[in-house]
Amino acid sequence: MTKVLVATVKPFAPVAVDNIREIVTKAGYAFEVLEKYGSQDDFKNAISDADAVIIRSDKATKEVIEAGKNLKIIVRAGAGYDNIDLEAATANNVVAMNTPGQNSNAVAELALGMIVFQARNQFNGTAGTELKGKKIGIHAYGHVGQLVGKIAMGFGMEVYAFDPFIPKEKIESMGAKAVDTVEELYSNCQYISLHIPANEKTKNSINSGLLSLMPEGATLVNTARKEVIDEESLLTIFEERPDFNYLSDIAPDCKDEIAEKYEGRFFFTPKKMGAQTAEANINAGIAAATQIVGFLEKGDTRFKVN
Ligand code: 3PG
Repeated sequence: MTKVLVATVKPFAPVAVDNIREIVTKAGYAFEVLEKYGSQDDFKNAISDADAVIIRSDKATKEVIEAGKNLKIIVRAGAGYDNIDLEAATANNVVAMNTPGQNSNAVAELALGMIVFQARNQFNGTAGTELKGKKIGIHAYGHVGQLVGKIAMGFGMEVYAFDPFIPKEKIESMGAKAVDTVEELYSNCQYISLHIPANEKTKNSINSGLLSLMPEGATLVNTARKEVIDEESLLTIFEERPDFNYLSDIAPDCKDEIAEKYEGRFFFTPKKMGAQTAEANINAGIAAATQIVGFLEKGDTRFKVN
């Protein structure tokens, strides 16, 4: 019997698991859930007889993929698939997919929530500032970036965007000002919201050269990946610019050093929280399960990333 496994260290909301179960069992497949597992060995054991697996930020390494002797498809219920060894998936004839757009609203709301939190001095009782009339630069205008732009416009912010993969006319048709270079974005905007994926080109790409361009009251919000930040540059800018603030959905490796010296200028979530809403879990979970059934029954490879 075909088996679908959900393997999530950070569990979906129970209602999302119910939705996934319904789709999988209706298709006539067996269903197993492995949540909050302690080691990669637990993942390897559970995947050993699975035909399909749904993961979140779980690490689908070469070893895990090879342990899935019957594995045909792995779906990352979410946007970023930097946690899947795509080469190993391809080498083992495993299709890898993501579910783009399904959890974007949750991430966008968190980004704006963090910006409000910082603008109001982390709700410490002192007078903060308003967002109306301030400039926000959105670095990458994909699913999440566009929603951040839309919400920021609701606050009355001036929205700038940089995305070399989207035509300027398209960005401007959504009400944002498209800039030609990333440097222009950082030098124009007090607030920067990051939405680039983590890959060989983008890792450590947010460095002193960019951060030092930001105007007074510089606030960087990162709901993308911690790996895109050059942490040496981050520590330098914290030291050199007392007006610089950094809020990130998942802490940088240098979090202790920041916490020790720069109180009130940072906030880091204890776990990646961007997509952690019932709605996002349901949307991404349903999409993942539906994509698995579509692939196994009809060979549908839409959303394939390898
Ligand atoms: C994504 O890439 O979709 C987000 O970072 C969400 O990750 P999560 O599923 O681990 O919360």
